[in-house]
Amino acid sequence: MKTAKIAPSILTADFANLGRMFEVFEKHPSVGYIHMDVMDGAFVPNISFGPPVIKSLAGKTRIPFDVHLMVNDPGRYIENFVTENTEYITVHAEACIHLDRVLRQIRQAGAKSGVALNPATPPEVIDYVLDIVDQVLVMSVNPGFGGQSFIQSSFAKIDKLKEMRERRGLDFKLAIDGGINKKNVLDVEAAGVEIIVIGSAILNAEDPGGELAAYDGM
Ligand code: DX5
Ligand code: ZN
Repeated sequence: MKTAKIAPSILTADFANLGRMFEVFEKHPSVGYIHMDVMDGAFVPNISFGPPVIKSLAGKTRIPFDVHLMVNDPGRYIENFVTENTEYITVHAEACIHLDRVLRQIRQAGAKSGVALNPATPPEVIDYVLDIVDQVLVMSVNPGFGGQSFIQSSFAKIDKLKEMRERRGLDFKLAIDGGINKKNVLDVEAAGVEIIVIGSAILNAEDPGGELAAYDGM
């Protein structure tokens, strides 16, 4: 990748072999983060893993973690996700009644703040918190599962967010999550996305290292 970094999502990985997968990630310059999908079975219809798993993975790699909280009222748990590897903690705008407070809480806890938007959520809902946001994560699938198809309206949302960022003179990163693979990754990069989350297209490939090598060369 020329300008973007890949953040492989371990959601659909073989959890018994994550250590080996981390070694694979470390060989590839396109990998900038490891994306951790936390799901509570309430905000999304699926349950994944929580702080104990993330804490036990911290220190096992030099790659920073990008923690994506798909949980209701995430302000209850922010501090539990701070580890030596945690760089971003991202919460959903739809899951926070007091989004401004939670974003400040993330920074206070020592991480960078991220806010995620479901496909149906307009970017205007975060207009008044953008100055305390380090990353905006555009969901290009409805969150909950790996392996879904990319929703095309995500491109319009990216454009809108870039316009908002420029108009306000801000410097938050643009990230995207869901349905990305070798066929559409360059379109997403060309749209100006800086952090590209990829789950099943890498983790469920027969040769994840070979897949990552392809992204390195793009
Ligand atoms: C979806 C998760 C994603 C997921 C992406 O709810 O937030 O991070 O792992 O998986 P793919 O790339 O398979 O759509
Ligand atoms: Zn995610």
